[in-house]
Amino acid sequence: AGQISSASHISPQFPSHRAITLPADGSLYSAMSSVEGHSGSIRRTFGSQKLLKTENVWLLNPQFAGASIIPSSEKYKEEIYFFFSEFNKTARVDEEPYRARIGRICMVDEGGVKNLMADSWTTFLKARVMCGAGNTQQQYNNLKQAVVLTAQDKRAGVLYGLFSNAWGRTVICAYSIEDIDQAFSTSKLKGYSGQLTGTRPGTVTAENQNNVKTLGVMRYHPEIEDVIRPVGVAPLDLPSDDQITHTVADIVRAVNEEHYSVLYLGTEQGKILKVLHTSEDVFIISQYSLFHNEGPVLNMAIDTQKGHLYVATAMEVQRLPLADCGRYGDTCRECILSRDPYCGWDKSRRKCVAIPPLRRTSPREVFVQSNTSVFLPCPVHSFHATYRWEKDNCIKNYPCLFSGDFCVLGPVVDTPLKEGVFRCMATEDGFKVEVISFRLVNDGRLLAASLAFTLGPSLLLAMATLWLH
Ligand SMILES: *[C@@H]1O[C@H](CO)[C@@H](O)[C@H](O)[C@H]1NC(C)=O
Ligand SMILES: *[C@@H]1O[C@H](CO)[C@@H](O)[C@H](O)[C@H]1NC(C)=O
Repeated sequence: AGQISSASHISPQFPSHRAITLPADGSLYSAMSSVEGHSGSIRRTFGSQKLLKTENVWLLNPQFAGASIIPSSEKYKEEIYFFFSEFNKTARVDEEPYRARIGRICMVDEGGVKNLMADSWTTFLKARVMCGAGNTQQQYNNLKQAVVLTAQDKRAGVLYGLFSNAWGRTVICAYSIEDIDQAFSTSKLKGYSGQLTGTRPGTVTAENQNNVKTLGVMRYHPEIEDVIRPVGVAPLDLPSDDQITHTVADIVRAVNEEHYSVLYLGTEQGKILKVLHTSEDVFIISQYSLFHNEGPVLNMAIDTQKGHLYVATAMEVQRLPLADCGRYGDTCRECILSRDPYCGWDKSRRKCVAIPPLRRTSPREVFVQSNTSVFLPCPVHSFHATYRWEKDNCIKNYPCLFSGDFCVLGPVVDTPLKEGVFRCMATEDGFKVEVISFRLVNDGRLLAASLAFTLGPSLLLAMATLWLH
């Protein structure tokens, strides 16, 4: 499962959170909602990094809805997104007082210079988030809760926001993290038309921002012009007879290898909807009524390690298995039609069962010179199974070149046989096992590589075969 961040303690009386806290790298990142007499802020405290905060004018009565670290393959590019609604107290009765927002800071930020933004973020930017159909009047502006699903170490993922409108109707909008990222890194700044020299304001750089002109621009123009719009343009198509009070999400790796987003939605009437969200559609997998007393779901938490979902109302707490596969009947057809990515059909037991977590093998190291040809062998134990190679964390698949009892990965077009972990996977009846894995290290020091260079690839294959026994 991916990294999950979710905000807690939501209730209809207090639609947003008084405070959101996020510990990271020995510091505490926190976002304080505005309450009487306090304007609200985003701060970094404790830890060895500089203590920083937002300037008061940057946030307009913020009500925070969540926060999430956005990972990156390069550590210094890590950012934190804060999700909130701003409230305009002087808006007229016929005007919408709320605006949904994403605020962003870079974790390497060390503040400005002596007399300019010394204790303020120099990388803070905020954007307007829209949730509604296209440019229609029907917009949901109050962001009440935000949940982010991201890949483990990649800058990719999806943000789910729970929004409400002035009549208390709730919807979920989904956003691509790549889209948000793109907006923050390319959009013009609102109200600023001047030329900029040097690094773009709000850009993550390894060095600290100390250009006085750039700092000045940042201080007075913290908002980007581009507006963040949901994927599929409109809110997710969900039943509308009951209002959503809380949401959590999980990334599931299904039998077919794909990753799926599953949302759990708690409702005003104490129900839980389990929803599959794909790029094509939204599908209600199942619906639960767990509680004796009908009351709103106030909180939910996922334990991905143990595979449980906890759901709380004001009176009760209940636990559900994430992989609740028994409820889909006793036929393969029913199991598959459920579209529950946690479940798969076990042919031998004739049951719909939870997909077991993948058993990883420890990779054997192979040192190679950049210009030698490497062949990686994988023993074929079952001719009913399909064998394939994956690189790193299954970003791409590679077919085998068969050679007797081995599924061999060799240097063909587009196969980056240079560095990385290569895993041989066997799939049978929808179940997948890892057979063997190799870590290729680009280095010519070892005998295997130099032998391969002089004696050709067949020897390396033979040697690797020997290691298998
Ligand atoms: C709040 O609403 C009033 C009335 O429409 C408007 O004049 C003012 O500019 C708004 N404030 C902000 C910060 O948008
Ligand atoms: C491989 O690379 C080394 C050093 O870069 C070079 O000396 C050698 O000739 C190359 N071998 C082949 C087969 O291209």
